[in-house]
Amino acid sequence: MKPAITLKNLSKTYKVHQKEEGLKGSLKALFKRKYKTVKAVKNVSFKIKEGEIVGFMGPNGAGKTTTLKILSGLLHPTGGEVKVLGFNPYQRKNQFLKQIGLVMGQKNQLYWDLPPLETFNLNKEIYEIDKKTYKKTLDYLIKNLDIKKIIHNPSRTLSLGQRMKCEIANALIHTPKVLFLDEPTIGLDVVIQKKLRQFIKDYNQKHKATIILTSHYMGDFEELCKRLIVIDHGKLGYDGDFEKFIQQYAKEKRINLTFLKKVKKKDLAKLGKVVAFNPYKAAIRIKREETTSVAGKLLKKFPIDDIDISEISTESIVRKLFAKG
Ligand SMILES: Nc1ncnc2c1ncn2[C@@H]1O[C@H](COP(=O)(O)OP(=O)(O)O)[C@@H](O)[C@H]1O
Ligand SMILES: [Mg+2]
Repeated sequence: MKPAITLKNLSKTYKVHQKEEGLKGSLKALFKRKYKTVKAVKNVSFKIKEGEIVGFMGPNGAGKTTTLKILSGLLHPTGGEVKVLGFNPYQRKNQFLKQIGLVMGQKNQLYWDLPPLETFNLNKEIYEIDKKTYKKTLDYLIKNLDIKKIIHNPSRTLSLGQRMKCEIANALIHTPKVLFLDEPTIGLDVVIQKKLRQFIKDYNQKHKATIILTSHYMGDFEELCKRLIVIDHGKLGYDGDFEKFIQQYAKEKRINLTFLKKVKKKDLAKLGKVVAFNPYKAAIRIKREETTSVAGKLLKKFPIDDIDISEISTESIVRKLFAKG
């Protein structure tokens, strides 16, 4: 089977206008512009099969959005080759655009003052979707994203979670075969995050869609991706099995604790590595597989006011990966 997505030595350099500070700098810049270059993506290669969901992880500024913009034809690469469904994305052929979808968690694609339904209707025309197909797709999206009650309200009046669901519906109105999801769950509460994951999973299965997903939440990858690609400073650091990655670089979880009474650090240290401590508030790191048993012991032995189990941040995991070379 031919891969749905191929990147070969992809590079992207931005040319950024550099201005010295103050009025003098502004005047100087009028006559002689200085540029500096930012290498956002450096020689990245990978292939993705049709129907695969791949997690794309990396800290802020790693080059994730740049890569997804190139894959969806919004940016021209500086070097290397890109093929998506056999197309060169940057040519932005209609036949290509009709088969891809892009969701950016940090950017609106819905018209701010219009109700989402009207943006959907506009896209029906742009994508030349026939009436019957459109109705069927719309019904599916409304039902599965649970957006019936909100699509008639102007986008600007929606909550972040509601808006994100509508952004996703909008990106799927033409049932794309390839979907780029750039931090679709950022800032959302856990309940909506879970719903969106379920929806993405269903969409992938129903349409054999190829999906690249970026996120700062391990949970998104855990739930959706068998394969993970990690980049930092534009360079590929890992491409492979998600479970193996976890075993190697994310063996621990973090438990954040608040106490009703003062506790002793040395008592806590018996259960895990204490990474933050004052007598009323602490955090410990523990082995992933021991989470439940340690949490049980904590609740039994300490005057717990609040307990919260979290993943080690993706940032520090990536730092660990690149430190190992
Ligand atoms: N339009 C732009 N002009 C100049 N530099 C940019 C632009 N967009 C992104 N960059 C830079 O490119 C690098 C990668 O950014 P980005 O792809 O947005 O990373 P990520 O999505 O992983 O946070 C960063 O150093 C960022 O500052
Ligand atoms: Mg980004």
